[in-house]
Amino acid sequence: GSGQAFAEFSAGKAEDVSRALEAAEQGLAIWRDTAPAERCRILNCAAMLIGERAEYLSVLEALDSGKTLDEARGDVRSCARLFEYYAGAADKLEGRSIPLGKDLSCWTEREPVGVSAHIIPWNYPTSNFARGVAPALAAGCAVVAKPAETTPFTALVLAGWLGEAGVPAGVVNVVTGLGPDAGASLVRHPEVAHITFTGSVSTGVGVMQAAAPSVTRLTLELGGKSPLVALADSDVDKVVDGALWAIFSNAGQICSAGSRLVIDRKIHAEVLEKLVGKARALRLGHGLRHPDIGALNSHAHLERVHAHVEAARRRGRSILTGGNPAVDPETGKGWFYEPTIIDGLPRDDPAVQYEIFGPVLAVQIVEGEEEAAAIANGTEFGLVAGIYTRDIEKALRLARAINAGQVTINDYWAGGVEVPFGGNGKSGFGREKGLEGIEAYVRTKAITIRH
Ligand code: NAI
Ligand code: MG
Repeated sequence: GSGQAFAEFSAGKAEDVSRALEAAEQGLAIWRDTAPAERCRILNCAAMLIGERAEYLSVLEALDSGKTLDEARGDVRSCARLFEYYAGAADKLEGRSIPLGKDLSCWTEREPVGVSAHIIPWNYPTSNFARGVAPALAAGCAVVAKPAETTPFTALVLAGWLGEAGVPAGVVNVVTGLGPDAGASLVRHPEVAHITFTGSVSTGVGVMQAAAPSVTRLTLELGGKSPLVALADSDVDKVVDGALWAIFSNAGQICSAGSRLVIDRKIHAEVLEKLVGKARALRLGHGLRHPDIGALNSHAHLERVHAHVEAARRRGRSILTGGNPAVDPETGKGWFYEPTIIDGLPRDDPAVQYEIFGPVLAVQIVEGEEEAAAIANGTEFGLVAGIYTRDIEKALRLARAINAGQVTINDYWAGGVEVPFGGNGKSGFGREKGLEGIEAYVRTKAITIRH
C-alpha cells in the first residue's frame, strides 16, 4: 500500500502444489481419525494462541495489506473467533438414526470430505483464511491454502501457529504463488475433494471449469454490488453513518460492501449533503498512523478502481466528491483513492452493475418501497443488503423481497462468526460462517444393517 517492497515470497509451481497435496493426504489420514474432542481442544488452543499474539499479527497484516491497524485488528479478532467457534462444533457433528422397520437398522455418519483447497483473496487475508480453514479442520479435513499473491504473510504465520497448537504435520499446508500458476494447479488437481474460493466472478467461473473434470465440490464467494436501501421515513443520521461505514471501511475492498445507496427522493438531498461532508473529512494515510482509510492493496487495483471512475466521468455522471487517486500525506507516495460518491445513476449504468471494489459509492434515487425493491434487485448479484426505515412492515416486506444471502434492518452489517454468510446469483453459492459453514467439509454416509 505504501508503494515500497515489504517482503518477498516464493512463487510456488505445480510441483510445489503436488508436494503439498501429498503431505495433505498423509495429514488427512491422521486428522480424520483424531478424536473429535481432541480436534476441539487443539482448535481452542489455536484460538488462544492467535488471541495472545493478536497485536503481532495485526501489525504484520496492516503492513502486508495496506489496511489500517484497527481494521487489521478486527480481521485478527475474527480469525481467533472463527477457530474458537468451530472448535465448539468439532465434537457435535452428529448423524441420525432412520427407522426402516424391524429387520433393519440405519444411521448416518458425517465424515470429512478429504483434502480441501482454499483460494484466499487479499482483502481479508487473515479472517478469510480462518473462515475456510477452521471449519475444515473441525470437520477432520486436511487443507492446502493458496493465499493471494500480494498478502501471503499471515497465512504462513497462522499455519505455523496451528502446528504449535497441536495440528499434526501435513494437515495444514500453504503454497504461496500466483493465481494462474499455483492457484490453477491446485484447483484442477484430482486429489482435491473440495474448493473454497473467494474472489472475482471471472476467476470463480474459471475455478468452476477447472473443478468440473474431477467433479470437485465448490464453495464460491464472488462479491457483489450490495444495496443500502433508505426509505423516506428512515433516520437520516443513521443512514449517513451506515452508508459511510458500508462503503469506506477497508477502503471499499469488501465483497459485501454497501456499494450502492438506494435512496428515496424525499431524503436524498439531506442525506447526500451530510454524506459528502463526512466523506470529505475522512483522512487517508499509512495504516500504522491510524488514518480513517488505508491504502488500496496494489497499484494494479488502484488503476482498476480509477478506470471505473474515469469511465463514469466520461459518461457524464455526477461525481459529488473524490474521483482521484491520492497519496500518503506524510510521504507523498502510496496507492490511495479518494472517498468517491457518484450520484443519480440509472439502473443500467456500469457503476451500478459492476463491482468496483474500492471507496466508490453509486447512488440510485427511487420513489417508494416498490421501486426501492426493484432497484435493489437490479443487478446480477445477491450478497448483502441493509434496509433503513422506521416502518416495521415495510422493513420485513423488503427483507423478504430482496435477493441477498443476508439482510440487516436499520444497520448495514450486524452479527459475526455466528451468522451464515454467502450469496445468490453471481455472488456465488454455499454459506460460510455459522453452523452452515461446516456443511461444505462433511459428507453424509448412510449405513444400514439387516438383522
Ligand atoms: P482474483 O479473483 O483473480 O483473485 C482472488 C484469488 O484467486 C487470489 O488468491 C488469486 O491468486 C487467485 N487466483 C487467480 N487466478 C486463479 C486461477 N486461475 N486459479 C485459481 N486461483 C486463482 O481477484 P483479483 O484479480 O485479485 O481482483 C480482481 C477483482 O476481483 C477485484 O477488483 C474485486 O472486484 C474482486 N475480488 C473480490 C473479492 C471478494 O471478496 N469477493 C476478493 C478479491 C477480489
Ligand atoms: Mg485476477
